Amino acid sequence: MNPKFYLTTPIYYVNSAPHLGTTYCTLAADAIRRYHGMLGQETLLVTGSDEHSQNVERAARKKGLSPFDFSTELSNEFRQQWDKFKVPYRFIRTSDPAHHATVQWLFERCRKNGYIFPSTYSGQYCVHDELYVNDAEPGDPCPDCGRPTETVSEENYFFKLSAFQDRLLALYENDPGFVQPDYRRNEIVSFVKGGLRDLSISRNNLEWGIPVPVEGNHVFYVWFDALISYLTAVREEKLWPADLHLIGKDILRFHAIYWPAFLMAADLPLPKKIFAHGWILKDSIKMSKSRGNVVRPEPLRQVIGADPLRYFLLREIPFGQDGNFSYDVLITRINADLANGLGNLASRTLTMIRQYRGGSVPASSGSAEIAEAARATIASYREAFENFEFNRALEQVMALITVVDKAIVQYQPWALAKKEHAEPQAQLDEILFSAAEVLRIVTALLAPIMPEACAQLWAQLGMTSNLETLRIDELAWGQLSAGQAIGEVAPVFPRLDAAKIIDQIQVIDDMEADRINELLGKTEPVAAPWAPPPGIAPLSPEITIDDFVKVDLRVGLVLTAEPVKGADKLLHLTVDLAEEKPRTIVAGIAKAYTPEQLIGRKVVIVANLAPRKLRGIESRGMIVAASLEDTPPVLAAFLEDVPVGARLK
Ligand code: MSP
Repeated sequence: MNPKFYLTTPIYYVNSAPHLGTTYCTLAADAIRRYHGMLGQETLLVTGSDEHSQNVERAARKKGLSPFDFSTELSNEFRQQWDKFKVPYRFIRTSDPAHHATVQWLFERCRKNGYIFPSTYSGQYCVHDELYVNDAEPGDPCPDCGRPTETVSEENYFFKLSAFQDRLLALYENDPGFVQPDYRRNEIVSFVKGGLRDLSISRNNLEWGIPVPVEGNHVFYVWFDALISYLTAVREEKLWPADLHLIGKDILRFHAIYWPAFLMAADLPLPKKIFAHGWILKDSIKMSKSRGNVVRPEPLRQVIGADPLRYFLLREIPFGQDGNFSYDVLITRINADLANGLGNLASRTLTMIRQYRGGSVPASSGSAEIAEAARATIASYREAFENFEFNRALEQVMALITVVDKAIVQYQPWALAKKEHAEPQAQLDEILFSAAEVLRIVTALLAPIMPEACAQLWAQLGMTSNLETLRIDELAWGQLSAGQAIGEVAPVFPRLDAAKIIDQIQVIDDMEADRINELLGKTEPVAAPWAPPPGIAPLSPEITIDDFVKVDLRVGLVLTAEPVKGADKLLHLTVDLAEEKPRTIVAGIAKAYTPEQLIGRKVVIVANLAPRKLRGIESRGMIVAASLEDTPPVLAAFLEDVPVGARLK
């Protein structure tokens, strides 16, 4: 086994604060890291912030900050959130000069090997997802987020992705573990088999980005920037390649296709494994800031605790698949597995040892049946964990707790304690030892997922070793020392009262929402007094009905229409108003209507307007049209047929 284990989370975009979706990935990564620590490996978890995006630039401008200062605030927010969850990490910012240097270095290596060339890019681009959308037409929506794409056409640098199709397919075939889960690898294989197009890796005339080391004003396209952070993070100590990139399924293509191709082009080793997890859904859709359905992690952490939340996320959702988040499911699961299951086993066992054995673990080899169940659990837990099947691993642990619960009911330690003969006393030793030994084993197994709660249980059992460095691969039945004095017993997983808990979360969440909106520059401005929308004319002074009836509005039929010489706005109309003869009207609508559009059309005429001369033509009446300031006039018309000469009232 490699003495070191280096894993990564994605680097998170800083146009959003951490939410339960991003937290899920970080907490899962930390559990994996801790597990490898318990295999005796020196571990490193790299996470960070992905800052060079147009969205970040826009958000920063809106908040009146430079993109760098805005990113600093948000990347600190991510750091603080992971600190609160007690996740140790190394943090990489894409704005770090060291990262700039790595990206430029990698570019040069790829270029030297002949995989970079300049060309014209013209196509659709999704600003939100930072995604050039292949095969899209102007006006098409982004396939990922549904927002309209923008057409861009510019001189860019391209990466010769097409040259890597065969090598990538060979990679997936020769190392099926490279992309996991299998069903996701199959998607990638069929995508690559469909053919790979060369990839534009630069953008023109953007300021916020890493400069491409060439003539002109190019910065790197975000994915030729972000992915390389994995390399930057460990470049100095030569820890590359990573053992694991943990990511969400939405960014698998970038990781499973682009990234290995970039590395192959630069003659660098590939990461050992890429695992794509599913999404946390809220109300059955992906949680995201833009949809406004985010669940914020901090209120959950404060009210429920970091460890129960970590447990829930990995127990409830099969890793790799999507899972819906709901408070009810969360609370039910924590009460069942942690308060009633693990918590109850701990308090019962330790209290009985205190009561019946003066607080010292009795000497016994334990129940053979329970010992066997525990051995099987250790093996199946490890197998499931190493296959990223955390839910199955945790299910095994809970099943072992149930075995002990049942044995306690069968042995009836409270009855045995009353019998003084050697046999019942030996049986009492057996069940107490077995329960305590199972408690020790499950505490060790759960330590990567619930580090703090397990450390407390460990101390309550009287264990003095450091749980973080305990070797999970050496964990076996019978290692609990007889005579060990148990520690202070206190409840670790209180039962949650749903109504109370949800209220508490809500209160904190409201405050968090305000704080985060302010951080993102989204505070609502104080409502300005109402004003008409632009272009809407203010209302004229009030009139009476008597005033109104003075205006004689009639339905007219346009008989002829022709332009007025020398006046490009005017049309000369004759209009039938069911009078003795048609009228002549000059109307300023030539820019909005052609004569052909008007002839035969019924219109509204102010019929009793005093005649006036326009360009030498006497106009008797005015045609009624609506418009905003500076918008073309639209003639008033009728949906139903209406007789010529009818009056409007
Ligand atoms: N910046 C890129 C990643 C670059 S990595 C070299 C990015 N950032 S992101 O902030 O949008 O997403 C980061 C990770 O969070 C992705 O793996 C994504 O799948 C994950 N999640 C975002 N929302 C999620 C859920 N609702 N549920 C689970 N994970 C989700 O993409």
